[in-house]
Amino acid sequence: MIKLLSHLSYVAITSPDVEASVDFYTKQVGLLEVDRVGGAVYLRCWGDYYAYSVVVVPGDEPSLQTMAWRTSSREALDEAARRIEEAGVQGEWLDDVPHIGRAYRFTGPWGHSMTLHWDVSKHHDTEGEAASSYPDRPSRRSKVAGAPRQLDHVTIATSDVDAFARWYNEVLGFRIMARTVLDEAPISVFSVLTTNEKSHDLGVVLDGSTRAGRVNHYAFWVDTREELLIAADILGENGYPIEYGPSIHGIGEQNFLYYREPSSLRIELNTGGYRNYVPDWEPNTWKPSQGSNNMYRNSVMPMSMTESFPPADGPSATEEGVPDEIREALLNPYAHQGQG
Ligand SMILES: [Fe+2]
Repeated sequence: MIKLLSHLSYVAITSPDVEASVDFYTKQVGLLEVDRVGGAVYLRCWGDYYAYSVVVVPGDEPSLQTMAWRTSSREALDEAARRIEEAGVQGEWLDDVPHIGRAYRFTGPWGHSMTLHWDVSKHHDTEGEAASSYPDRPSRRSKVAGAPRQLDHVTIATSDVDAFARWYNEVLGFRIMARTVLDEAPISVFSVLTTNEKSHDLGVVLDGSTRAGRVNHYAFWVDTREELLIAADILGENGYPIEYGPSIHGIGEQNFLYYREPSSLRIELNTGGYRNYVPDWEPNTWKPSQGSNNMYRNSVMPMSMTESFPPADGPSATEEGVPDEIREALLNPYAHQGQG
């Protein structure tokens, strides 16, 4: 298979209060407003190479409207669309994605909208306030403390982690980099996939709810751990709670910090971690007790981290969509240690 996809290019998310979300992204996260089209607001990080990386769309609930990858070439876009349809999924060609133009959009077998495109509008401020003294930099570094350089990854929720990973591997060539299986039972709860040398640009968490197509969080990249710590410090000073972290993931080895935007959607800051160029990488299976999520293994994950978006519905679904025994194992993966 030719290399089809090159990297995550943007996420479009819905918010019941677009202005509140945009205000948070610009003032607290440090994104720049680029455009407004039909109620949607287009935002970018200072180091993003294209016109935008986040779109905030009006909606009743927080959710992922679509996640977009740039293909490796125009031919790769046509080949990706062909392979998706060969796998039994029918998408549609779009001609009018703002600042992009032509794109192929489909809903995957587990209900997640993905948009693939080759065309882009590149961003480069060459004069004025925003111009950088680095010729390769699309714009000057943000003056907001801890502002991310660029979009990093998106982590969706699905009812079958391994089947999801297999489909995106076989159809679109995502490399599967690692997975997590519970200590207590052979249940796969997490996997990471990538289209490039990062540990992941697509994460997958188990979703026990009856609602398809949910998202757990999406993430930005900061250059240094110090910036991540400063971001945590400033968010706290400004009255925004940190949901989890700062700490370090075992899988991927990134430092992490999770917090929420006003819609309640979870966002993450990442930095550090490995670069993996191995084309035939064999993914390891981690146990939560090995520190797959938190390598320091000195704290338990807050229960709120199992919430995905939009909220789970249906009388049979548990409140957050994860069965009790799985939730307990996820929240305190170290509980069984020392029991013999
Ligand atoms: Fe993440």
